[in-house]
Amino acid sequence: AKITYIEHDGTEHSVDAKNGSSVMEAAIRENVPGIDADCGGACACATCHVYVDASFMDKVGAPNDMEQSMLDFAEGVESNSRLSCQITVKDDLDGLIVRMPESQT
Ligand code: FES
Repeated sequence: AKITYIEHDGTEHSVDAKNGSSVMEAAIRENVPGIDADCGGACACATCHVYVDASFMDKVGAPNDMEQSMLDFAEGVESNSRLSCQITVKDDLDGLIVRMPESQT
C-alpha cells in the first residue's frame, strides 16, 4: 500500500509499504524523518505519534486501551492521533496520509 508521510515542515515522503508491517516500520525502512520510534514498536515510547488524515480515520480505527494510555503521555494529541507502530499496513490503507507532530522533527 502506498503511504504518504508529511513532516511537520510540510515535506512529503511517499513509501510503498508491505502488508503486515506497521506504518512505523515502513517509515523507518525508507528513512522517513519524523518518526523516531525509540522503543522499536513496543507501544512504550509514543515517539511514533502521527495524525491520521481525516479521510482515513474510519479505516484506521481507534487506538486500543494500551495505545490510548501511551498517547496520554504524548504531546499535542488530537482526536486523529495514533501511534504508527500500532497501525498495520493492509490493502485497505492504500493512499493513507499521516502527518508528524512538531515534537518529532
Ligand atoms: Fe514506541 Fe510506537 S515505536 S510507541
